[in-house]
Amino acid sequence: MIYSTVLKAALLAAAAQAAVIPSSSPSGLRVRQIGNGQDVVTWDKYSFYVDGERVMIYSGEVHPFRNPVQDLHLDILQKVKALGFNAVSVYIHWGLVEYERGKFNWDGVFDLQPFFDAAKAAGLWVIVRPGPYINGESTGGGLPGWGVRVEGQWRNSNANYTAAWEPYISSVGKIIAKNQITKGGPVILTQPENEYSAFMYPDGSLNPDEDLLYEKQLLDAFADAGIEVPTFCNDAWIGGHFLSVDVYGYDNYPAGFDCLNPITSWPDPPDYFYSSHNDVAPNTPNLIAEFQGGSFDSWGGTTFEQCYKDLGPEMVRVYNKNTYASATHLLNIYMMYGGTNWGHLSHPGGYSSYDYAAAIAEDRTLREKYYELKLQANFLMVSPAYLTSVPVDVRNLATNGSNITITELWDEVGKNQRFYILRQTKVQEFTNSKFKVDVQTSAGQITVPQLGNAVYSLPAQDSKILITDYPAGPVDILYSTLEVLTWKVIDGKTVIILYGNTGESGETAILTKTSYKVDVRSGKSSTVSSKQTSTSLTLQFVVGEQTVVALGDDILLYVVDRVNAYNFWVPDVNLKKDLPVIIKAGYLLRTATFSGNTLALTGDTNGTTVFEVIAPKSVQAYTWNGGSLDVSLTRWETQEGRYRTKTPRVDMPDLARVKWKYINSLPEISGNYDDSKWVTADNTYTPNPTKPTTPVILYASDYGFHSGNILWRGHFTASGGENLFNLTIQGGNAFGYSIWDNDKYLGSFAGSAVPSADNGSYVLTEWIKGSSHVITILQDHMGLEQSWFGGQENFKLSRGLSDYSFGGATPILKHWKVTGNLGGEKFVDWARGGLNEGGLFAVRKGYHLPGLDDSLWASKSPLKGVTGPGVEFYRATFDLNIPDGVDYPMSVDIGSSATLALRVEIYVNGWQFGKYIGNIGPQKSFPVPQGILNYKGENTIALSLWSLEDNGAALESIDLVLRSQLEGGVGTVKNSVAPDFEERPGAY
Ligand code: GAL
Repeated sequence: MIYSTVLKAALLAAAAQAAVIPSSSPSGLRVRQIGNGQDVVTWDKYSFYVDGERVMIYSGEVHPFRNPVQDLHLDILQKVKALGFNAVSVYIHWGLVEYERGKFNWDGVFDLQPFFDAAKAAGLWVIVRPGPYINGESTGGGLPGWGVRVEGQWRNSNANYTAAWEPYISSVGKIIAKNQITKGGPVILTQPENEYSAFMYPDGSLNPDEDLLYEKQLLDAFADAGIEVPTFCNDAWIGGHFLSVDVYGYDNYPAGFDCLNPITSWPDPPDYFYSSHNDVAPNTPNLIAEFQGGSFDSWGGTTFEQCYKDLGPEMVRVYNKNTYASATHLLNIYMMYGGTNWGHLSHPGGYSSYDYAAAIAEDRTLREKYYELKLQANFLMVSPAYLTSVPVDVRNLATNGSNITITELWDEVGKNQRFYILRQTKVQEFTNSKFKVDVQTSAGQITVPQLGNAVYSLPAQDSKILITDYPAGPVDILYSTLEVLTWKVIDGKTVIILYGNTGESGETAILTKTSYKVDVRSGKSSTVSSKQTSTSLTLQFVVGEQTVVALGDDILLYVVDRVNAYNFWVPDVNLKKDLPVIIKAGYLLRTATFSGNTLALTGDTNGTTVFEVIAPKSVQAYTWNGGSLDVSLTRWETQEGRYRTKTPRVDMPDLARVKWKYINSLPEISGNYDDSKWVTADNTYTPNPTKPTTPVILYASDYGFHSGNILWRGHFTASGGENLFNLTIQGGNAFGYSIWDNDKYLGSFAGSAVPSADNGSYVLTEWIKGSSHVITILQDHMGLEQSWFGGQENFKLSRGLSDYSFGGATPILKHWKVTGNLGGEKFVDWARGGLNEGGLFAVRKGYHLPGLDDSLWASKSPLKGVTGPGVEFYRATFDLNIPDGVDYPMSVDIGSSATLALRVEIYVNGWQFGKYIGNIGPQKSFPVPQGILNYKGENTIALSLWSLEDNGAALESIDLVLRSQLEGGVGTVKNSVAPDFEERPGAY
């Protein structure tokens, strides 16, 4: 993992430095014609067309598998839609749905249909990326655990691998196929593989050639499954790989993944994207399949709150606008909503939260970055000329202490409009640059701003888009230094919303022969000045909260500062794009529907919300979440109303005080423990490329165990005098283990953020000749590694022992036993999936599930904890009664001393929703969504507490925390259906 991450970073850096010269393009392997026989999704060199209409595809990445509550998909998708975006992109995790080879689980929380249906209901297209390999900081990068036993290279045309993935692509492909837009569904594009950009020989050395046969096999398999919408690829840089797809694409993470160092570590935005894209794929749109929307974080990392400090709205201003400067016409933000690595979904480099510091936080609340994205997306969606614009000039303006880079885009098709993207040349520029700028217009070259002594102002970590010859309906904007949020023609009047930073001056000129009275209806008239000529009207504003200027009955201009701009929403009314409504609301506007003369609005509020509705006069009434919304006419003839949010108080249980029951969850170290039902680890051959030195194979995946805790028991007869047990053991980053000789504790390896293996030596005593000893090892399995390189077998890196030996004397091995989750790949809990459980005694028995009668268990709180080294299992129940019509996300927050070697797995109603490691961190707050938590009735929380401390370990705190209180929400959220406890036959 470390190796591949470092190597990947090096490759990316080298590629960036070389300004990315494409590798020679493979030819002759195009397997399907452009359009694939369908004409719904097509493209030319500028952009895609859907149903014949040229479209900007602005998409956000969400992973359905990281949200096991089907009814919450609509919440996320409505939030994506409300940004002005028109698509979502998803990965599908193969390993999760084919946990046992040949048996697919597309039921319950793994069913993809509710997600597709929710996307359709929200009015979003879906881009599907089913792998087989996805990466995505997920266990195995999407590859299945059983794959570890499939010999040879993965992610190339090795026949064993082909036989492994074909059934999956056929199975998932059919589900995708029936949801294609050509069949009335939302799916418009698909991506085979992911970042198929760097390759390895079997010995791990770099292979310069991609496997063209594998690419063809994948495309054929997609087609065979009935996929007819276009395919695209996601090259890890503009390297010209996988060119046999329909449309070439690549990804980019310009700010890197360094959450510790603030903005000061950001590189300057690159200028090369467009020309590199053109060198590689001149006939297809510039497609960025993943563009940085936040960052992952790893064990021992900084927390996502810290990541967000560095990767907030500024990042969107600097870097996203730079992708527009590269004429990017499909842009997918990775991640828009990260979700949770519930049930051991993470690769070893990540923890339970996959929040990603994304615009929509793990608990589904909205961050400021969300609102910044909304400003940009809305602008692009009303600027069709952007879709045929390309960069024609990049120049530097270095005067008066300013160092500005200006990219000029020109509309090659309409031949009139220009977009100027202005940014600080140096991200590290911390001054507010003030300057004048020359722009080309139909009225010749103009230096703007023109009026008075005004200057253009560009603060640090900001970028702006300046437009010329921009038609807002019938209004010809000659230029505007204020940015356009949106515009619409409503009842024959053109409403244009412009924004800037508070206190800046901004100038907008329109071409008109009419002599307008500049009528300031809202805001201070002293902040508006103007100059009328026979052909134009130039208006200059000092940006305040909200200034509204009426120009006759023709034009209504809003000039708002950024914070007020955030409150504007442009809903697709009745899911139709061009219905004339703009709404100022608060936190979230989800939907807008006309029925008769009533405009029904839904959304979420916090605090008092001021509504302003700009809609046709024919609208007689407004409703908000079903209740009537009282409005009054503003001086500029829009409707204004006020809404006071009602967020009822609720009783939260005090988890420190509820009745906790517990049992010992390590019976394995007691003298008479019977492990006869365990799997006997007696394989003497492993297909794994890394061969161990042990007499029998002690790799967990060779016996079907791929997650959670793994237990090993070696049975020996002493030769007499054994005094040392040495082992080499692997578990993945941040893993730990504890080890016993019969019931005698030998010690623990508490782990730290990086080591994924340990060489340990433990002192043995009393190994008297002929005596029986069982060496019991409890280890953490942190997930399977990702295999980022084509042909790489990294995901096969073992979890278990690769070597052991004794000092003093060598005992006689009787046998080794192993267990992980009950049943291994033939797992018990079909509803929660194969990855949800680990190998601890209590979990094997199903004691983490609700409905168990634990009345005979002893009482003890996890705040008292375990007295020595060992594992205890705690359970408690509590009730919730959360009213309807609100969204109250919650988390289980736990704390212990930062040096305490304590490992906790948190189960809520049987779902593994958190893994806490006291001495490594950083996660202490574990969001658990409604639907996993039962918001109307009883809940069961279960914790395994594994103390790796000689003197025991306990939690210092445990709380169920209300993270935010919003009125509104997505509506009914049903609990994810999964079985309660039942006696498990054969459980040991
Ligand atoms: C990309 C990769 C994604 C994800 C991302 C980092 O390179 O395609 O799957 O791993 O990096 O979050």
